[in-house]
Amino acid sequence: MHFTKSFVAAAAAAGVNAQQFTWTGTNQAGGEFGETVFPGQLGKHYIWPTPESVDTLAATGMNTFRVGTRMERLVPDDISGPINETYFDGLKSIVDHITGEGHYAVIDPHNYGRYYGNIINDVDGFSAWWTKIASRFASNERVIFDTNNEYHDMDNSLVHDLNQAAIDAIRAAGATSQWIWVEGNAWSGAWSWVSSGNGQSMLDLSDPQDKIVYEMHQYLDSDSSGTHTECVSATIGVERLQEATEWLRQNGKIGILGETAGANNDVCKQAVVNELDFLLDNSDVWKGWLWWAAGPWWGDYMFSMEPPTGVAYQNMLSEIQPFIGA
Ligand SMILES: *[C@@H]1O[C@H](CO)[C@@H](O)[C@H](O)[C@H]1NC(C)=O
Repeated sequence: MHFTKSFVAAAAAAGVNAQQFTWTGTNQAGGEFGETVFPGQLGKHYIWPTPESVDTLAATGMNTFRVGTRMERLVPDDISGPINETYFDGLKSIVDHITGEGHYAVIDPHNYGRYYGNIINDVDGFSAWWTKIASRFASNERVIFDTNNEYHDMDNSLVHDLNQAAIDAIRAAGATSQWIWVEGNAWSGAWSWVSSGNGQSMLDLSDPQDKIVYEMHQYLDSDSSGTHTECVSATIGVERLQEATEWLRQNGKIGILGETAGANNDVCKQAVVNELDFLLDNSDVWKGWLWWAAGPWWGDYMFSMEPPTGVAYQNMLSEIQPFIGA
């Protein structure tokens, strides 16, 4: 759905809560693939998203692309060490393409709070890593920094400290205009945001620019893992988002559903549509959503949004089209 500026202005004047997203789009996976092989080889272990895929999806109205990358490839061997320019150039190239078209590129270190498989306890090292990466993108306002993908099985306090260190490092690096998406422990699940303790531990993150967005993920299968073709029910997404929505609103925060998906069947289609409709109804706190995922190497993966043959591109896109558009 696309609202014109005058519609929004009229709705605001009339006191209506104009329903509108800021960010809608898809994950673009590939740069993080081969996640046990470092540094790995381009074209063999990992691959960058293609500009053609981004452009095709952008033509549907999508404006945000979350680009998967790996911390170990950007900064090999030592988390406080120098950038690998070869790998960095690959990331920068697709980020520049996305943002050059006026869209948002989300830098997503797809690391689960780990570096070479070990929980990142070195908060200063994490800060050093973000200082280097953020300084490279400091002048690009259309870049969004996602501190890390899906922290899990760590201390909540460490997840808090890593997020705060990233925020501080990014701002100190001169990247003062960009949005920062923070993620919580427990895979940043929306359904467990409060029960996991994220609701407490993530509450006092602070940013001098006041541009923190709480990124949560939600899948619709029995264990919220996104690994099953069956969705629990047509309303499961709405049910799983209730508590997090109240948390955002009660605490004056804003959120983004950074990963969601359902397989190609009727229950999942209804569940996804109802979920996105719920987000739109609550777009005072939910600023958008991203599909999981596009990318060149998905093959017949049940959630693939990769044009032209991805299962979701062919079967789900038409269902979710009404919710695309900023
Ligand atoms: C830097 O990245 C390139 C491309 O992935 C890779 O071939 C090279 O081995 C990497 N260098 C280091 C030191 O990891």
